[in-house]
Amino acid sequence: MKKIITLGGSTSKNSINKKLAEYAGSLMGNFKLINIDLNDYTMPLYSIDIENENGFTSSTHDLNQIFEQADAFIISLAEHNGAYSAAFKNTFDWLSRIEGKVWRDKPMLLLSSSPGSRGGQSVLDIALTRFPYMGANIVGSMTFPSFFENFKEGEIVNPDLKSDLLKLVDKFKKIIM
Ligand SMILES: Cc1cc2nc3c(=O)[nH]c(=O)nc-3n(C[C@H](O)[C@H](O)[C@H](O)COP(=O)(O)O)c2cc1C
Repeated sequence: MKKIITLGGSTSKNSINKKLAEYAGSLMGNFKLINIDLNDYTMPLYSIDIENENGFTSSTHDLNQIFEQADAFIISLAEHNGAYSAAFKNTFDWLSRIEGKVWRDKPMLLLSSSPGSRGGQSVLDIALTRFPYMGANIVGSMTFPSFFENFKEGEIVNPDLKSDLLKLVDKFKKIIM
């Protein structure tokens, strides 16, 4: 069975992006989901000196191996001051030191969400520009705005957003199968 990583780009305990990535994963059907919580892979704040002196932590190697073995990614990015959360950027920086093609040319569904009406459009734009240089094969992307109005009790309550996500998931599934 093909393996799909879901990952919210945040270490918030109640991360809305983790919820959204896992929700999108739940729409996929017959795939094995690997739901990553960045809190399970803590890494020191990246510095070339720490890398030179101590190398990589086991968390970094472990997450790199999971990325290596997966078939596809569903990523939902949190937006902090218009960019990646520090937690996501730190993880991404460490992983990129082991393998520059962090995303290994595997299909990716790329999402972002925030409580605001732009739904993380700025961080999504950054990732859409940058991730392809890191081996991302972005099959589809969307922002999910005003999370708390549009996602309630584990379900998307806005029919237009639900339909947009279902279309993306359908396209994504066909590419992975
Ligand atoms: C330091 C900080 C900066 C933020 N900057 C933005 C921002 O630029 N745009 C935005 O839409 N929301 C911003 N927010 C609100 C986040 O979108 C909100 O906390 C969201 O829940 C983060 O996603 P998460 O729940 O997956 O961690 C910011 C929050 C924090 C703590």
